[in-house]
Amino acid sequence: MTTLVLGASGATGKHLVEQLLLMGQHVKVVVRPLTNIPNAWNDNDRATIIRANISEMTVDEIANHIKDCQAIASCLGHGSTIYGKPRKLVTDAVKILCSAVEKNASENVKIVLMNTAGFRNKDLNERISFGQRIMMGIIRTLVPPHLDNEEAAEFLRLNIGQKNAKIQWVVVRPDNLTNEENVTEYSLCVSPTSTLFNPSKISRINVGHFMARLIVGNDLWKEWKGKMPVICNAPQKY
Ligand SMILES: NC(=O)c1ccc[n+]([C@@H]2O[C@H](COP(=O)([O-])OP(=O)(O)OC[C@H]3O[C@@H](n4cnc5c(N)ncnc54)[C@H](OP(=O)(O)O)[C@@H]3O)[C@@H](O)[C@H]2O)c1
Repeated sequence: MTTLVLGASGATGKHLVEQLLLMGQHVKVVVRPLTNIPNAWNDNDRATIIRANISEMTVDEIANHIKDCQAIASCLGHGSTIYGKPRKLVTDAVKILCSAVEKNASENVKIVLMNTAGFRNKDLNERISFGQRIMMGIIRTLVPPHLDNEEAAEFLRLNIGQKNAKIQWVVVRPDNLTNEENVTEYSLCVSPTSTLFNPSKISRINVGHFMARLIVGNDLWKEWKGKMPVICNAPQKY
């Protein structure tokens, strides 16, 4: 199985690529021309490095890259340039990826989107307190990447939906991200159990591990496809 990974050079994206390689998978990573990546990827026969800026790629270019891919994952994020361009980095990437899949890829391509527990899945009745609703409104206005993440997830929910012939998707919702060296136990919930004022923690390596397992494992995929699992560190084993 081959997976195209966007945001592969990022703090979570690197873990996702490492986990996929550890699971014996083939990966194609799209990284910006000047971005550093681990040397081991250059020497790995199962890793293909595509040097390009996703915001400047055409549908045809992406369609060409994904014609042998069965899965696509995005760990894109705005990093420290939250007020910089492109404002809709994640949303535009998801849209163009879906257009490329429609154009060229085989059937049943898995798309796994790293998002945020701050996003509420409107397919479910995910209630938030009045105070949190006010805060989310302020964040939406003042932190453009949050709105970008929300719109990207909404595009999959509304425009691709549950019955697309070619695309199946999972939106992974982590809360506060931390850095750990090893995969630990984590748990998955259908909806957030934490709040903006009392967030849960999840390590980036655990997020990468779960995203890789979704891509590789058919049973796990069937369980979560078309859903938006919230992932957090937890004592119980999933
Ligand atoms: N921080 C948190 O606690 C938290 C919590 C929940 C969800 N999230 C979300 O999780 C996602 C990933 O987080 P992270 O901390 O792993 O991200 P990160 O380390 O900042 O990585 C971001 C990735 O996006 C790429 N990127 C940034 N701007 C780009 C552009 N203009 N064109 C192409 N690629 C670009 C970066 O490439 P370069 O290496 O070339 O810069 C990098 O690979 C984000 O969407 C974030 O909003 C974060």
